[in-house]
Amino acid sequence: MEKSTHDWSPSTWRTRDAAQDVTWPDEAHLARVESDLALKPPLVFAGEARRLLDHLELVAHGKSFLLQAGDCAESFDEGSADSIRDKLKVILQMAVALTYAAGVPVIKVGRIAGQFAKPRSDEYEERDGQRLLAFRGHIVNGEEFEVSARRPDPERLLAAYHQSVATLNLLRAFTTGGFAALSRVHAWNQEFVANSLEGKRYEVVADEIERALQFMKACGIDLHDDGALQGVDFYTSHEALILHYEQALTRRDSLTGDWYDCSAHMLWIGDRTRQLDGAHVEFLRGVSNPLGLKVGPTMGVDELLRLVDVLNPENRAGRLTLIARMGDQLVEEKLPPLVESLRAAGREVVWACDPMHGNTFVASGGQKTRRFDDVLSETSKFFELLSSMGTWPGGLHVELTGDNVTECLGGGSRLNEGDLELNYTSICDPRLNATQSLDMAFHVAEFLQRYSAGNGARSL
Ligand code: PEP
Ligand code: CO
Repeated sequence: MEKSTHDWSPSTWRTRDAAQDVTWPDEAHLARVESDLALKPPLVFAGEARRLLDHLELVAHGKSFLLQAGDCAESFDEGSADSIRDKLKVILQMAVALTYAAGVPVIKVGRIAGQFAKPRSDEYEERDGQRLLAFRGHIVNGEEFEVSARRPDPERLLAAYHQSVATLNLLRAFTTGGFAALSRVHAWNQEFVANSLEGKRYEVVADEIERALQFMKACGIDLHDDGALQGVDFYTSHEALILHYEQALTRRDSLTGDWYDCSAHMLWIGDRTRQLDGAHVEFLRGVSNPLGLKVGPTMGVDELLRLVDVLNPENRAGRLTLIARMGDQLVEEKLPPLVESLRAAGREVVWACDPMHGNTFVASGGQKTRRFDDVLSETSKFFELLSSMGTWPGGLHVELTGDNVTECLGGGSRLNEGDLELNYTSICDPRLNATQSLDMAFHVAEFLQRYSAGNGARSL
């Protein structure tokens, strides 16, 4: 298939309908902000996005695993160094558990440094007879239930850019400046996790890694000096929802002449904005970053095939990650026909599992929550279904935080509904806390082990 972007430019999306469109009260103000943003330095470079694409090609070929994780919605009030460090710690811990137990390299992609925009089921929110615009993420408005907070404010696009710059700067420092060196594997276990069952299990793995490093050193090979073990590759991603922001940060790569959305390494299209003739698909088909596409239970087989062809016309492995978010109840019915039709049509995609977004419900206390058991059960079914079809279950996409929050039920921290009010800080969906995340990682490592053992055809 030919690359068909001759009829594309960073602004062609404006001729299409954009689902979840925000009505900005002052369009001239928005235009001024877009011009300001267009002059700002890019957050990421085209070469980095290409490197991630190469990594994802390995995932598509069953040789690596994608771990995509972070906040549902980042907050302007929560960009502290500690909170960023703790999120990174959990992701690194999960990656260690996965790599060590399953022997599969893990590609780490954060929902971070730009994950500020939220699609909503309802445009309005009503409380005690008062109806206000829904909260759409800090890049658009504020979560307080007040008329002024809910008014979309274009200055927030600039604030989102600046917070992303600061977050990414710190992430780059943490991942290359020694903090993420494998020799520090013990230091990533946080205090409140360390005493849990999962924390202790992690300590055992960390001990073994440390011993292996010492053994190699005794043999005359000091892996502490090895560049590859001194830092990690860590990439950023977010849902490309506010296209005014994404367009303003899109740049032409001087090396290849291709367009890249330089707001993040990887961008994804949400389940509510994936219309074939819609603005989001139009915009993302033209940028060369690796893309994600959320695949919910209403996706049809023909619809998915057409979306895959529009978003990845050259059928390049690594370009497109399909993130299934069916829900534990529906995954067995909805997922297999989609996987099978793409396999039969020879489409090169990565299949990842988002076991969060199809398993949300409202607890008796009014908080949005998820049961760890549902999340785990959908993940387990995802692995089983894909492996039975000879397709590599290539990734896990989860909402988590490094803080000791009480937002999801059960799991390592055995939270019940009464605990939800103890420390519920998410401004959008409920996240796994660090203990629950680690618990999840050990389970997924077991699924991966089982699959790679049972599948002789695929060498890992
Ligand atoms: C999300 O990832 O936070 C989200 C809104 O997902 P989805 O588009 O799958 O509902
Ligand atoms: Co979410």
